[in-house]
Amino acid sequence: MAQALPRNVELAVERIRRALGTAGCILDRDRIAPFEVDFRALYHGATPLVACPASTAETAEVLAICNDLGVGVVPHGGNTSYCGGATPGEAGTDVVLSLARLNRIREVDPANFSMIAEAGCILADVQSAAERADRFFPLSLGAEGSCQIGGNLSTNAGGLNALRYGVARELVLGLEVVLADGRVLDGLTSLRKDNTGYDLRDLFIGAEGTLGVITAASLKLFPRPRTIETAFLAVRDPAAAVELLARLRAATGDAVTSFEYLPRIAVEFTVRHIPGVADPLDRPFESYVLCEISSAREDPALRSILEASLEEAMHAGLVLDAAIAESIAQRNALWRLRESVPEAQRAEGASIKHDVAVPVAALPEFMRVATAAVLAIVPNGRMVAYGHVGDGNLHFNVSEPVGGDAAFAARSSDIQAAVHDIVRRFRGSISAEHGIGRLKREELARHEGPLALELMHSIKRALDPKGIMNPGKVLAPEAAPQSSKESRP
Ligand code: MLT
Ligand code: ZN
Repeated sequence: MAQALPRNVELAVERIRRALGTAGCILDRDRIAPFEVDFRALYHGATPLVACPASTAETAEVLAICNDLGVGVVPHGGNTSYCGGATPGEAGTDVVLSLARLNRIREVDPANFSMIAEAGCILADVQSAAERADRFFPLSLGAEGSCQIGGNLSTNAGGLNALRYGVARELVLGLEVVLADGRVLDGLTSLRKDNTGYDLRDLFIGAEGTLGVITAASLKLFPRPRTIETAFLAVRDPAAAVELLARLRAATGDAVTSFEYLPRIAVEFTVRHIPGVADPLDRPFESYVLCEISSAREDPALRSILEASLEEAMHAGLVLDAAIAESIAQRNALWRLRESVPEAQRAEGASIKHDVAVPVAALPEFMRVATAAVLAIVPNGRMVAYGHVGDGNLHFNVSEPVGGDAAFAARSSDIQAAVHDIVRRFRGSISAEHGIGRLKREELARHEGPLALELMHSIKRALDPKGIMNPGKVLAPEAAPQSSKESRP
């Protein structure tokens, strides 16, 4: 039998129902269920209510009510987080705040190369709105058909074009944010330059809804690429990939937009599990790169520059084989292969994901050392290390052995700790683009220096004194560490 709700939660539910009406509340258990589990089904929480405000003012009302009554609020976008960042706690006392109805493009300003989108806009719709104005919004990731821009900004998403255009943070000009107590911080400017005081905007980007709720963003647009060349390359090894990247950046005048690394096993997984995906090359190789170069003007020379660079790289033994897309359909097929690696890996059974970054030049050495460490713990684990090598971000994932293995799951925290310790030796990041959420909260506390943690807790207390914003995510709820001596090497 369902447990009675604490009185403050009951009151919050009642007041939110009155404020938003039936259109703004999901109370039906079947419709609530998808909001109670994360994308990877790692976390199963519970909520009495999914609040669906249709405006910033309604969002502010929900937060004011919850702050008043001390009730947790879990902001929820497209629910594509890998880290459980949008799942309510197990106690069943957090209200989920869906941003899905805040889905208007408020403005596109082609002359200013900017647009204002509400948090619940699907990323693909933001891209299309820019394209209709002959502009380009470069944030791109596998989940773009369902993830929401508010979630992308709250997690500071990276994706496939970060090498050239930067991560989500670098694409934001201004933000509208509802604070924990319901006040609205209107920072929706479209300026490139603004040095007036502390940069409050950057506090909320990547905070995963723990400091406030992003309700709208002013985004940077770019000229639309008019020439795009896409190549799928077999490379000698990861070191060859890194050297090739530097060569291509130089030869093309820094026109490399994406540079994705794939090991053979990732190609095999997609060919096996994703309908319509075929190996782009005639014979198998150990390592591959999917790379794209682009120009904002019609530039027939780009193709010859690419071909000449690849020929030189072949002579140098870096590139072993190549397929260059001859049509949009071929380009799409190459991207489909790359973007379906996570889905194909899921079809191969349990996996342990590490979303790490190290300096680009250190990637080959990191891969060597970390692979040896993982295989020392699970000798029959399958290494599936792939990703955004162009910006040093590797999805250093490990799939369970064929046929499954109970010992694999049992060793997952040892594996994760070993990989993250090696990341630290390289002065890398244990969460390059997926965020911390619930999943890496303890790892953040283990890896971040005490002074950095102390500052994070102070910011949290200043902006959310009652601790209602996305409780238990990013920072552990316990008190801030006492020491203020920085100890990170
Ligand atoms: C990707 O780049 O495909 C995703 O961010 C990574 C993943 O599924 O691990
Ligand atoms: Zn990624």
